[in-house]
Amino acid sequence: MFEELQPGLYKEQTKRGPAFWTENLLPGQTVYDEKLSGNGELRQWSIKKSKIGAALAKGPPKIPIKSGDVILYLGASTGTTVSHLSDMIGKNGMIFAVEYSFYMLRRLVFLAEKRKNIAPILADANHPERYQSTICEVDFVFQDISQKNQVEIFLKNLKFLKPDGKAMLAVKAKSIDVVADTRKVYAAVEHQLQKEVNIIWQRTLDPFEKDHCVFLVEKK
Ligand SMILES: C[S@@+](CC[C@H](N)C(=O)[O-])C[C@H]1O[C@@H](n2cnc3c(N)ncnc32)[C@H](O)[C@@H]1O
Repeated sequence: MFEELQPGLYKEQTKRGPAFWTENLLPGQTVYDEKLSGNGELRQWSIKKSKIGAALAKGPPKIPIKSGDVILYLGASTGTTVSHLSDMIGKNGMIFAVEYSFYMLRRLVFLAEKRKNIAPILADANHPERYQSTICEVDFVFQDISQKNQVEIFLKNLKFLKPDGKAMLAVKAKSIDVVADTRKVYAAVEHQLQKEVNIIWQRTLDPFEKDHCVFLVEKK
């Protein structure tokens, strides 16, 4: 039984817990090792390989993405999560997918050849000024970057967010401080974010992603 959580996103209750599915932009085709259902019309969103996937299992109010949206994705890697957002925004949307590793980006370019709503950008998200002429205002910013200054990188990139847009930060506590209690790291991140944005929702991602936490925010 699939329950539609929002357009293009479905939840299925299985014996092992909830599973999430997106409507496949390219029916029948997989992107990683995800399962397909309904003649390949649906792709299962891994809750162990994607921070937004894990966040879904923690029940956010809503993933603030709809058909036709423009997204800035920081730390795109090979495109696992990007591919599900690509499903959700559909053919009229666009994802600017920033990744600084050439090796990862190469695989993302192959994905973007098939999925025309992904624009890979080889850049360091620490320097948004280097890609600002390439992108436009966006409806949603998502960041999954394991760097010590990940909060600072996130805040710098919010200049691309529309006034009514939403943004999500996946925090990896051990990248900020490898020895500190993760709860103290999350509290420090919360404090840092609150100075600049409104926090709408936050959850730790354990047990799906150990020592990770997500924050959904909007501009003040
Ligand atoms: C945990 S992986 C992201 C996984 C991806 N979000 C997914 O779910 O498919 C983090 C990625 O961020 C990239 N990264 C790290 N620092 C970066 C930076 N300063 N600018 C751009 N990309 C960065 C890494 O190369 C890596 O591919």
